[in-house]
Amino acid sequence: MTGDTETMGSPAVSGAVPEHVAIIMDGNGRWAEARGQARHAGHRAGVQSVRSTIEECIQHGVKVLTLFAFSSENWRRPKTEVNMLMELFLSALQREVKRMQSNDIRLRVIGDISAFPEKLQKRIRESEDKTRDNKRLVLQIAANYGGRWDITETARKLAAAVQSGELTPDDINEELFARSTALGDQPDPDLFIRTGGELRISNFLLWHCAYTELYFTPVLWPDFDAAEFRKAVAEFGSRQRRFGKTGAQLESAR
Ligand code: IPE
Ligand code: IPE
Ligand code: MG
Repeated sequence: MTGDTETMGSPAVSGAVPEHVAIIMDGNGRWAEARGQARHAGHRAGVQSVRSTIEECIQHGVKVLTLFAFSSENWRRPKTEVNMLMELFLSALQREVKRMQSNDIRLRVIGDISAFPEKLQKRIRESEDKTRDNKRLVLQIAANYGGRWDITETARKLAAAVQSGELTPDDINEELFARSTALGDQPDPDLFIRTGGELRISNFLLWHCAYTELYFTPVLWPDFDAAEFRKAVAEFGSRQRRFGKTGAQLESAR
Protein backbone atom coordinates (compact mmCIF):
# COMPACT_ATOMS: atom_id res chain seq x y z
CA MET A 1 0.00 0.00 0.00
CA THR A 2 1.31 3.45 -0.80
CA GLY A 3 1.04 6.32 1.67
CA ASP A 4 1.67 3.90 4.55
CA THR A 5 3.09 5.68 7.60
CA GLU A 6 5.68 2.86 7.87
CA THR A 7 7.47 4.30 4.84
CA MET A 8 7.31 7.85 6.20
CA GLY A 9 8.74 7.42 9.68
CA SER A 10 6.73 7.34 12.88
CA PRO A 11 4.72 10.31 14.15
CA ALA A 12 6.85 12.54 16.36
CA VAL A 13 5.61 13.81 19.70
CA SER A 14 6.15 17.27 21.12
CA GLY A 15 9.77 17.95 22.08
CA ALA A 16 11.12 15.37 19.64
CA VAL A 17 14.58 15.85 18.14
CA PRO A 18 14.82 15.55 14.35
CA GLU A 19 16.83 12.55 13.19
CA HIS A 20 17.66 14.21 9.87
CA VAL A 21 18.04 17.98 9.35
CA ALA A 22 18.39 19.39 5.83
CA ILE A 23 19.45 23.01 5.33
CA ILE A 24 19.46 25.47 2.43
CA MET A 25 22.31 27.71 3.52
CA ASP A 26 21.17 30.92 1.82
CA GLY A 27 22.04 34.59 2.21
CA ASN A 28 25.84 34.61 2.04
CA GLY A 29 25.96 37.11 -0.83
CA ARG A 30 23.57 39.55 0.84
CA TRP A 31 25.46 39.25 4.14
CA ALA A 32 28.66 40.38 2.39
CA GLU A 33 26.99 43.07 0.28
CA ALA A 34 25.43 44.60 3.43
CA ARG A 35 28.98 45.05 4.72
CA GLY A 36 30.26 46.53 1.47
CA GLN A 37 32.26 43.38 0.81
CA ALA A 38 32.51 41.06 -2.19
CA ARG A 39 30.08 38.10 -2.24
CA HIS A 40 33.07 35.80 -1.76
CA ALA A 41 33.49 37.11 1.80
CA GLY A 42 29.98 35.90 2.61
CA HIS A 43 30.70 32.38 1.36
CA ARG A 44 33.86 32.27 3.47
CA ALA A 45 32.02 33.57 6.54
CA GLY A 46 29.41 30.84 6.07
CA VAL A 47 31.97 28.15 6.86
CA GLN A 48 31.80 29.10 10.55
CA SER A 49 28.03 28.50 10.54
CA VAL A 50 28.63 25.07 9.02
CA ARG A 51 30.98 24.24 11.91
CA SER A 52 28.63 25.44 14.63
CA THR A 53 25.67 23.64 13.03
CA ILE A 54 27.61 20.36 12.94
CA GLU A 55 28.51 20.79 16.63
CA GLU A 56 24.88 21.52 17.53
CA CYS A 57 23.69 18.44 15.62
CA ILE A 58 26.10 16.29 17.59
CA GLN A 59 24.98 17.89 20.88
CA HIS A 60 21.29 17.33 20.11
CA GLY A 61 21.77 13.77 18.85
CA VAL A 62 20.80 14.53 15.23
CA LYS A 63 21.96 11.58 13.13
CA VAL A 64 22.00 13.02 9.60
CA LEU A 65 22.71 16.59 8.45
CA THR A 66 22.34 17.51 4.78
CA LEU A 67 23.67 20.87 3.63
CA PHE A 68 22.86 22.39 0.24
CA ALA A 69 26.20 23.80 -0.88
CA PHE A 70 25.79 24.17 -4.66
CA SER A 71 22.67 23.59 -6.72
CA SER A 72 22.46 22.34 -10.29
CA GLU A 73 21.27 25.89 -11.14
CA ASN A 74 24.21 27.67 -9.45
CA TRP A 75 26.33 27.14 -12.61
CA ARG A 76 24.37 30.13 -13.96
CA ARG A 77 26.33 32.45 -11.65
CA PRO A 78 29.35 34.47 -12.82
CA LYS A 79 32.32 32.21 -13.51
CA THR A 80 34.47 33.92 -10.86
CA GLU A 81 31.90 33.12 -8.16
CA VAL A 82 31.55 29.50 -9.34
CA ASN A 83 35.34 29.06 -9.32
CA MET A 84 35.61 30.59 -5.87
CA LEU A 85 32.95 28.21 -4.52
CA MET A 86 34.86 25.22 -5.98
CA GLU A 87 38.09 26.39 -4.33
CA LEU A 88 36.33 26.92 -1.03
CA PHE A 89 34.87 23.41 -1.21
CA LEU A 90 38.27 21.91 -2.03
CA SER A 91 40.11 23.71 0.79
CA ALA A 92 37.34 22.96 3.32
CA LEU A 93 37.52 19.25 2.46
CA GLN A 94 41.28 19.30 2.86
CA ARG A 95 41.06 20.98 6.24
CA GLU A 96 37.97 19.40 7.75
CA VAL A 97 38.49 15.69 7.06
CA LYS A 98 40.83 15.33 10.05
CA ARG A 99 38.25 17.01 12.26
CA MET A 100 35.56 14.67 10.90
CA GLN A 101 37.72 11.68 11.76
CA SER A 102 38.25 12.79 15.33
CA ASN A 103 34.53 13.60 15.74
CA ASP A 104 33.33 10.30 14.22
CA ILE A 105 31.57 12.04 11.31
CA ARG A 106 30.88 10.27 8.04
CA LEU A 107 30.94 12.42 4.90
CA ARG A 108 28.70 11.74 1.91
CA VAL A 109 28.53 14.02 -1.09
CA ILE A 110 25.26 13.86 -3.03
CA GLY A 111 24.87 15.34 -6.50
CA ASP A 112 26.43 14.97 -9.94
CA ILE A 113 30.09 15.39 -9.03
CA SER A 114 31.21 14.31 -12.52
CA ALA A 115 30.85 17.97 -13.56
CA PHE A 116 33.51 19.08 -11.04
CA PRO A 117 37.26 19.44 -11.72
CA GLU A 118 39.05 16.07 -11.51
CA LYS A 119 41.07 17.16 -8.47
CA LEU A 120 37.90 17.97 -6.51
CA GLN A 121 36.23 14.68 -7.51
CA LYS A 122 39.28 12.77 -6.29
CA ARG A 123 39.33 14.65 -2.97
CA ILE A 124 35.60 13.96 -2.50
CA ARG A 125 36.04 10.21 -3.10
CA GLU A 126 39.05 10.05 -0.75
CA SER A 127 37.22 11.95 2.01
CA GLU A 128 34.17 9.69 1.70
CA ASP A 129 36.38 6.57 1.84
CA LYS A 130 38.36 7.78 4.87
CA THR A 131 35.24 8.56 6.89
CA ARG A 132 33.10 5.63 5.67
CA ASP A 133 32.93 3.79 9.01
CA ASN A 134 32.25 6.81 11.23
CA LYS A 135 28.99 6.56 13.14
CA ARG A 136 28.11 9.64 15.16
CA LEU A 137 26.78 11.88 12.40
CA VAL A 138 26.31 11.46 8.66
CA LEU A 139 27.18 14.78 7.04
CA GLN A 140 25.78 14.96 3.51
CA ILE A 141 26.93 17.80 1.29
CA ALA A 142 24.62 18.41 -1.66
CA ALA A 143 26.92 19.63 -4.42
CA ASN A 144 25.71 20.09 -8.00
CA TYR A 145 22.53 18.61 -6.61
CA GLY A 146 19.02 19.11 -7.95
CA GLY A 147 15.88 17.35 -6.76
CA ARG A 148 14.71 16.82 -10.34
CA TRP A 149 18.13 15.48 -11.34
CA ASP A 150 17.94 12.99 -8.45
CA ILE A 151 14.46 11.76 -9.42
CA THR A 152 15.39 11.53 -13.11
CA GLU A 153 18.63 9.66 -12.36
CA THR A 154 16.71 7.21 -10.19
CA ALA A 155 14.13 6.59 -12.92
CA ARG A 156 16.95 6.05 -15.43
CA LYS A 157 18.76 3.57 -13.14
CA LEU A 158 15.59 1.58 -12.47
CA ALA A 159 14.67 1.55 -16.16
CA ALA A 160 18.15 0.16 -16.96
CA ALA A 161 17.69 -2.54 -14.30
CA VAL A 162 14.37 -3.52 -15.89
CA GLN A 163 15.94 -3.58 -19.34
CA SER A 164 18.72 -5.89 -18.15
CA GLY A 165 16.19 -8.23 -16.52
CA GLU A 166 17.42 -7.52 -12.98
CA LEU A 167 14.00 -6.08 -12.06
CA THR A 168 10.45 -6.23 -13.40
CA PRO A 169 8.26 -3.09 -13.49
CA ASP A 170 6.22 -4.59 -10.62
CA ASP A 171 9.30 -4.59 -8.37
CA ILE A 172 9.33 -0.78 -8.46
CA ASN A 173 7.62 0.70 -5.42
CA GLU A 174 8.13 3.77 -3.22
CA GLU A 175 10.60 2.00 -0.96
CA LEU A 176 12.86 0.79 -3.78
CA PHE A 177 12.60 4.16 -5.51
CA ALA A 178 13.62 5.97 -2.29
CA ARG A 179 16.57 3.63 -1.72
CA SER A 180 17.73 4.21 -5.30
CA THR A 181 17.92 8.01 -4.93
CA ALA A 182 21.07 9.85 -3.89
CA LEU A 183 20.07 9.53 -0.23
CA GLY A 184 20.19 5.73 -0.43
CA ASP A 185 19.45 4.24 2.98
CA GLN A 186 19.45 7.59 4.84
CA PRO A 187 16.05 8.57 6.25
CA ASP A 188 13.98 11.43 4.80
CA PRO A 189 14.62 14.81 6.43
CA ASP A 190 12.45 15.48 9.49
CA LEU A 191 13.30 19.18 9.59
CA PHE A 192 14.07 21.44 6.61
CA ILE A 193 15.63 24.83 7.37
CA ARG A 194 16.10 27.64 4.87
CA THR A 195 17.99 30.75 5.96
CA GLY A 196 18.07 34.02 4.03
CA GLY A 197 14.33 34.75 3.94
CA GLU A 198 13.28 33.19 0.62
CA LEU A 199 10.18 31.02 0.85
CA ARG A 200 11.01 28.33 -1.70
CA ILE A 201 12.62 24.90 -2.03
CA SER A 202 14.90 25.79 -4.99
CA ASN A 203 15.03 22.21 -6.33
CA PHE A 204 16.47 20.74 -3.11
CA LEU A 205 15.31 17.30 -1.85
CA LEU A 206 12.00 17.16 -3.76
CA TRP A 207 11.25 13.45 -3.36
CA HIS A 208 12.42 13.34 0.26
CA CYS A 209 10.65 16.42 1.66
CA ALA A 210 7.15 14.98 1.08
CA TYR A 211 6.46 14.98 4.85
CA THR A 212 9.28 17.14 6.19
CA GLU A 213 8.55 19.99 8.62
CA LEU A 214 9.53 23.28 6.94
CA TYR A 215 11.23 26.14 8.83
CA PHE A 216 12.09 29.44 7.15
CA THR A 217 14.09 32.22 8.80
CA PRO A 218 15.19 35.65 7.53
CA VAL A 219 18.55 35.20 9.30
CA LEU A 220 21.37 35.14 6.73
CA TRP A 221 23.50 31.99 6.73
CA PRO A 222 26.70 33.57 8.18
CA ASP A 223 24.58 34.82 11.13
CA PHE A 224 22.94 31.43 11.71
CA ASP A 225 24.63 30.44 14.98
CA ALA A 226 23.99 27.82 17.68
CA ALA A 227 21.13 29.85 19.22
CA GLU A 228 19.37 30.10 15.83
CA PHE A 229 19.75 26.36 15.31
CA ARG A 230 18.23 25.68 18.73
CA LYS A 231 15.24 27.90 17.83
CA ALA A 232 14.60 25.77 14.75
CA VAL A 233 14.85 22.52 16.73
CA ALA A 234 12.51 23.90 19.42
CA GLU A 235 9.99 24.90 16.76
CA PHE A 236 10.23 21.38 15.30
CA GLY A 237 9.57 19.93 18.75
CA SER A 238 6.36 21.96 19.03
CA ARG A 239 4.88 20.62 15.77
CA GLN A 240 2.45 17.73 15.64
CA ARG A 241 3.37 15.44 12.75
CA ARG A 242 0.19 13.74 11.68
CA PHE A 243 1.18 11.92 8.47
CA GLY A 244 -2.44 12.00 7.35
CA LYS A 245 -3.95 10.91 10.66
CA THR A 246 -6.12 13.10 12.92
CA GLY A 247 -4.78 14.87 16.00
CA ALA A 248 -7.17 12.79 18.18
CA GLN A 249 -5.70 9.52 16.85
CA LEU A 250 -2.21 10.64 17.79
CA GLU A 251 -3.33 11.78 21.24
CA SER A 252 -4.99 8.43 22.01
CA ALA A 253 -1.88 6.52 20.91
CA ARG A 254 0.33 8.37 23.41
C1 IPE B 1 23.95 30.69 -0.69
O1 IPE B 1 24.10 32.05 -0.59
C2 IPE B 1 25.22 29.98 -1.11
C3 IPE B 1 25.16 29.39 -2.46
C4 IPE B 1 24.15 29.41 -3.28
C5 IPE B 1 26.36 28.74 -2.90
P1 IPE B 1 23.85 33.01 -1.83
O2 IPE B 1 25.15 33.17 -2.55
O3 IPE B 1 22.74 32.52 -2.65
O4 IPE B 1 23.49 34.36 -1.11
P2 IPE B 1 22.38 35.41 -1.55
O5 IPE B 1 21.08 34.65 -1.64
O6 IPE B 1 22.80 35.96 -2.87
O7 IPE B 1 22.39 36.41 -0.46
C1 IPE C 1 19.85 27.59 -3.14
O1 IPE C 1 20.16 28.93 -3.02
C2 IPE C 1 21.08 26.78 -3.31
C3 IPE C 1 22.07 26.77 -2.22
C4 IPE C 1 21.95 27.35 -1.06
C5 IPE C 1 23.24 26.04 -2.49
P1 IPE C 1 20.04 29.97 -4.23
O2 IPE C 1 20.38 31.30 -3.69
O3 IPE C 1 20.82 29.49 -5.39
O4 IPE C 1 18.49 29.85 -4.58
P2 IPE C 1 17.55 30.79 -5.48
O5 IPE C 1 18.20 30.88 -6.82
O6 IPE C 1 17.46 32.12 -4.82
O7 IPE C 1 16.24 30.08 -5.50
MG1 MG D 1 20.72 32.86 -2.56
